[in-house]
Amino acid sequence: MDDPLDAAKAAAARRAVERYVRPGARLALGTGTTAAHVVRELRAVHPTAAFDCVASSVATERLGRSLGLEVRPLRGDDRFDLMLDGADEVAANLDLTKGGGGALLREKLLARLSDRLVVVVDPSKLVGRLGERARLPVEVVPFCRPVLQRQLGDGGLAPALRTAPDGGPYRTDNGNEILDLTFRDGIERPAEVDRDLRSRVGVVETGLFVGLAERVVVGASDGTVRELLPPKPPR
Ligand code: A5P
Repeated sequence: MDDPLDAAKAAAARRAVERYVRPGARLALGTGTTAAHVVRELRAVHPTAAFDCVASSVATERLGRSLGLEVRPLRGDDRFDLMLDGADEVAANLDLTKGGGGALLREKLLARLSDRLVVVVDPSKLVGRLGERARLPVEVVPFCRPVLQRQLGDGGLAPALRTAPDGGPYRTDNGNEILDLTFRDGIERPAEVDRDLRSRVGVVETGLFVGLAERVVVGASDGTVRELLPPKPPR
């Protein structure tokens, strides 16, 4: 593997699957390059096992099926034993930003339906403060987008409309658009920012994942892996 970050993602994915996935598990599958490693490792580590899988994107669904995994649509009463997913940023308390791959809405729903969210990353994703490395994606209804763009711009967040390769607006799997927000000094209070953004008409979801991750598996390019847990609350 020539790309050191890709080697790190692969090492973390292998460890997460070996340690946390049991044959027959109800699995929620994330999206992105790291989540793709996870899906491939599911087959590599458990070549003949069956899993009950729901994917957070069309891309992951296709990848899973191409590897012979059964990936089915979401049902109303679904619960998952485990969600395995990547992240764009991981803070020390395991709050996350996600959505660089555009799948934040489905990822957040599946994370909330999962008993455990295990996040798999390379070390470049670890940050002192959310927002310092990545822009914050916000999924918005296309009709409302011009107004939101103006409002968020007035708030100093430099909302950038994500574009597709053809130059037009990028569309999520849900038919929505994405505004990527810049927080010049990082995101000091992620829960508040998440609440404020979601209270605006036309915002469908944000890429802030606050208090959802149970642990973070961090791979290194030399193949070593460590795990991060949230700090213990003070007594
Ligand atoms: C997908 O929408 C995202 O939330 C991804 O989990 C995140 O962008 C990390 O992607 P990579 O694993 O490709 O860096």
